[in-house]
Order: sequence, then structure tokens, then C-alpha cells
Amino acid sequence: MNEIWKIPIEKLSYQIAEFAINNSENLEEFRIQFLGSKNVIKPLFSEISKIPNENKKEYGQLLNQLKLQAEEKFDQHKSFAKSSVQKEIPDLTLPGQNDNVGSRHPITLVMDKIISIFSKIGFQIAEDREIEDDWHNFTALNTPEDHPARDMQDTFYVKNRKDIVLRTHTSSVQARFMTTHKPPIRILAPGRVFRNETISARSHCQFHQVEGLYIDKNVSMADLKQTLLFFAKEMFGKDVKIRLRPSYFPFTEPSAEMDIYWGLKDETDHRITKGTGWLEILGCGMVDPAVLENCGIDSKVYSGFAFGMGIERQAMLLYKIPDIRYYFENDLRFLRQFKNS
Ligand code: PHE
Repeated sequence: MNEIWKIPIEKLSYQIAEFAINNSENLEEFRIQFLGSKNVIKPLFSEISKIPNENKKEYGQLLNQLKLQAEEKFDQHKSFAKSSVQKEIPDLTLPGQNDNVGSRHPITLVMDKIISIFSKIGFQIAEDREIEDDWHNFTALNTPEDHPARDMQDTFYVKNRKDIVLRTHTSSVQARFMTTHKPPIRILAPGRVFRNETISARSHCQFHQVEGLYIDKNVSMADLKQTLLFFAKEMFGKDVKIRLRPSYFPFTEPSAEMDIYWGLKDETDHRITKGTGWLEILGCGMVDPAVLENCGIDSKVYSGFAFGMGIERQAMLLYKIPDIRYYFENDLRFLRQFKNS
């Protein structure tokens, strides 16, 4: 056969041309096979002594071409392999991954709603500490030591401290704000409060309140009632009915509790309203002049109203949550139900 010495070169040239390079792994295989220190072209160079003299020159040229062919192919695919690693298309047949997007907690949802309602009529947010001193939580609010009203709220004290408490209500923020700001004051104070109560479906040792405080010249009970009516309509619908029942708080005079008419459509309505159709939503009243004076505000010039409402109860009504303990257990099956709220 003529030019039989060309066959190994042609074979390798064919292999180089046909070698499929489509990722960084087979690019490396290619490099080892044709360009590495033990590459398959090398042995052909030492075969040159066996080649007929007249073909030696051409043999050498063909081998150099072969080397070049391998080098060029490698260089071409070097960049291609790099970018193809980055652009590798994901396996579209794999099952989808759950993105586990979180949801807002129902307490947050209701708090945010209340905040947005009162911010429409100019109330600003005032937040303050959960660990509070006795003066701001009680004394400034007309509840000195030994006052029987302290028994209304079972208080957690910080260990070995008679004067530091976990705040029992957000009314402490009233005292904090009034001692540091001059009227007019129009604030909303949302936050967590604590009471040493037995945990059950209806009560917990921690819960949330939103406090409102409005201090200015000539603020009257009529302003309080209209403000609360506006809130109730925005929160529970424009046909809602409210009533103010006389009540008692040490820091307001007169004091009242506000009920909304819930109705008596079904058995649950009868149960949660104890057969009356009315539900208590909040406590309120005109800020006692003594409280204004305690906080350095002239009660002959200024008057004001305050109110405080629980959040858990309202969220239970709005979302039909049967047990207050659900709020604090962080059970995903509970929390996920508010994804679209
Ligand atoms: N702080 C009272 C409570 O915890 C609620 C309240 C706030 C009442 C403001 C009157 C005025 O129940």
C-alpha cells in the first residue's frame, strides 16, 4: 500500500476532529490525550527513524500540523467551555423547589390595619420599652403602690427588683411620651404587654395592645367618641354600631369601655357575646388631670383622651381563630393560612 506511513497521522487527525468538547470535563480529557506530557502524538515523532528517507520531511511536517490542529481545537473550545459552564441550562424536568416565602403574622396584620386607620387622622407611632419602671407603668398613671387597682393586673417583676416590671399595658408609653413632649400630642403606641395570668384558650401571659393618646386644648369626650366611631367603621365595616359603657381605670376620668355590635346570627355569636350580641373591644376615657400633672402638663390648659385595645381578641374575631395560644406557638400550619392576607 502506498504511503502507509501516513495512516497513524490521518487516524489521529480524524480523532481530533471528531472529539466532542461541550463541557470543561471533556475539554480536560482532550488536553490530556492530545497535548499532555504523555499525549498520543508524541510517540509518532520517535517513529521518524523508520520512515523512508524521501518521506521524512513530509512526515515531520504532517506531525507538526497534527500538533497544531490539536492546539487550535483546544484554544477554540477553551472559552466556549468556560462560558458553557456558566450558562449550563438547569434540568427542567426536575420537580419545582418550594420557595418557602413567609407570611405576615395575624397579630402584625391587625396591628398594621389599626395603625393605618389612625394614621389617616394624624396619629403618629410612638414605641417604647417592654421592661419598664414602676413609675411609668403605675405611679404616673395614678396607681401608687398599695392602690387596689394594681390587683387588676398581675404583674411580672424583674428578679430581685421591686421597681422594674414587664409592662402590664401600653399605657406606660403615655407617661413616657408626655414627660418628654409638649402638647399637642397625638400618638399611637403598639406593643407587647405581659401579665401573670394562667394560660388558656382565652388568656395568655403575653399579648399585644395598641394605645392611643390625644392631648390638646379643649379636647372633649365627644372627640373621643367620634374618633372611636371612625375607627370602628374602618375596622369592622361602615354599618357597625358602637356603645360606650361606664367603666373604671385609675388614669382616666370618666372612663368607659367600648363595645361593638357583633350580632347573634349563629351559635358562635351567642357564645362569644355571651348572648348579648355586643363585644368589648377597648378601654378608654378622658386623661385624669392628675396624670397630666404627674407628667408635667398643665391640666388647666390642656385636656385629652386615651384608649387602649387588645390585638389578639380582634384578630380572633376577624380571622375566626379559636385559641389565643396559636399566636405564640409558631406552628407553620397555622401561620401559612395567612399567606394571602
Ligand atoms: N390600659 C388599659 C388596659 O390595659 C386600657 C386603657 C388605656 C384604658 C387607655 C383607658 C385608657 O386595660
